[in-house]
Amino acid sequence: MRSLRKTVLLAFLVSVVLVLALLHSWPTRSYATVDVSQRPGSDKRLEDRLPDADPRSGDIPYRVREGVASLLARNGCVCEGKSAAVNLPFSQLLFPRVSASALHTAFQASELEALRERRAKEYHSFQTRTQSPADALLIAEANSPLQYPTQGVAVRPLRTILIPGLALHDIHKENYSLNITATLGTLNVAAEVEGVKVKGDGEMHMTLSSSLLPSLNRQLQFVSYTNTLFHPSTADTLQLQTEGHQAAFIIKIGHGATPKLYNTGPKGEYNISALVTIATKTFLRYDKLQDLIDSVRKYYPTVTIAIADDSEHPQTVSGPYIEHYIMPFGKGWFAGRNLAVSQVTTKYVLWVDDDFIFSSSTKLEKLVDVLERTTLDLVGGAVREATGYTSTYRQTISIEPGQEEGDCLHMRRGFHHAVAGFPGCVVTDGVINFFLARTEKVQQVGFDPRLARVAHLEFFIDGLGSLHVGSCDDVIVNHATKIRLPWVGQSESDKMYAKFRYPPASSDAAHTKNGLLFFKSRLQCMTHN
Ligand SMILES: *[C@@H]1O[C@H](CO)[C@@H](O)[C@H](O)[C@H]1NC(C)=O
Ligand SMILES: *[C@@H]1O[C@H](CO)[C@@H](O)[C@H](O)[C@H]1NC(C)=O
Ligand SMILES: *[C@@H]1O[C@H](CO)[C@@H](O)[C@H](O)[C@H]1NC(C)=O
Repeated sequence: MRSLRKTVLLAFLVSVVLVLALLHSWPTRSYATVDVSQRPGSDKRLEDRLPDADPRSGDIPYRVREGVASLLARNGCVCEGKSAAVNLPFSQLLFPRVSASALHTAFQASELEALRERRAKEYHSFQTRTQSPADALLIAEANSPLQYPTQGVAVRPLRTILIPGLALHDIHKENYSLNITATLGTLNVAAEVEGVKVKGDGEMHMTLSSSLLPSLNRQLQFVSYTNTLFHPSTADTLQLQTEGHQAAFIIKIGHGATPKLYNTGPKGEYNISALVTIATKTFLRYDKLQDLIDSVRKYYPTVTIAIADDSEHPQTVSGPYIEHYIMPFGKGWFAGRNLAVSQVTTKYVLWVDDDFIFSSSTKLEKLVDVLERTTLDLVGGAVREATGYTSTYRQTISIEPGQEEGDCLHMRRGFHHAVAGFPGCVVTDGVINFFLARTEKVQQVGFDPRLARVAHLEFFIDGLGSLHVGSCDDVIVNHATKIRLPWVGQSESDKMYAKFRYPPASSDAAHTKNGLLFFKSRLQCMTHN
């Protein structure tokens, strides 16, 4: 009995020891804790490292050239309107008047102060998230003996590279020495060179020294950098120092962009059905939508049409290659665009309004050709009104930096330049409601679903800086008549549509629009013609 108890006790002890041993030898991975509320590597001290200007140059007088100086960024921006110089019929067409509007008027004076504060806070956090150390100003000092890469060094997160281009070109010395300092990774040497002393390999600060300059330079060819602090997209600022000189350079850290490729089928003529999805948003106007579908089918019988519909009593829209997405009643214009575009699986998406009609001039092949053979992301066509008037509605958009009040938005009719090889095509910033675009880019920019009713250029404002926009006037879609003849009664659905889609200018819709520009886009005012 006693021996049995002893055996059990022994067995118990043995198993405890075994478990402990197992636990001890278990491969444990220690996870460091990283403060990601700050962007790593943003070294404020670097910004103060601007070398002093030559003190002797301070007293030399100069004369300001107004013509050039006025082009430089001002201390803040302003929106100025310009009224028409002459008041003639059509003067608005010939000399478009520039009107300016302040955007804070979308809010009550009482709520404005709190709103401004909240906007400033959100903006600050946006900047923290988006600014990279690679955006910081770096100055290469004069006559530095240090050689280093100024741009183009990149490493994948937690990986290692050889730093290219490091060298020292110094006057004769007894002892040459060089310090390299990193902040988001460690330095090492991939090979050792005789006669060179390396201190701090495997650390963030490394000192290399030698009495022979060629040996030191040979050793510098083998200096490696290993990123140790994970971030999917940032940069490390490395500092180089030798006696009396210092320099800094950037190593970009990040994953590369994962490509999103579309298999467009065998080479040959463009297969529109395989390349393009037509997306539209409808609301009540089923007769117009059916006309659109019928006209599309005449030219493109197998192209997919994605329809977002937020009518109160949705009717069935069916047929081959039709996807009808029903939304809650009155979700709105941009919400519908977003839904339709989110379901597209082809390389390109063509946006059309539900009251457009395809004709023999609606050659999608031409628009596809522009996107296939250029770097443009989106290309607009032209819309022909029932009156015969054709418009492309090209807009240039620019945002002038301002201070705490916000930035200034300037929109003007026009374009930047013609596209070589494509007569009739130009590059601009915003186009009409009829455009072909790379699906992925449109999905990235997205249509803000808060813009429920009148909205269009807001998409292009959101896409400024990421969309490369073109416009071609030789691909034309027809617009079902908008001009109502007085003796033709308006149908019930048309009346209802007009009530929703074209609210009076002073309404909530206009306020929402200006409110979003004010807060979301951090703008203070805009000018347009
Ligand atoms: C050269 O300078 C480095 C750093 O200043 C020092 O560590 C090293 O001992 C020196 N070497 C000789 C040979 O003096
Ligand atoms: C290099 O680093 C060492 C130790 O970190 C320091 O003592 C030395 O002054 C530095 N040399 C230069 C040229 O900055
Ligand atoms: C065009 O693409 C569609 C859809 O991918 C496919 O069904 C059709 O066979 C293609 N047509 C040609 C001529 O390749």
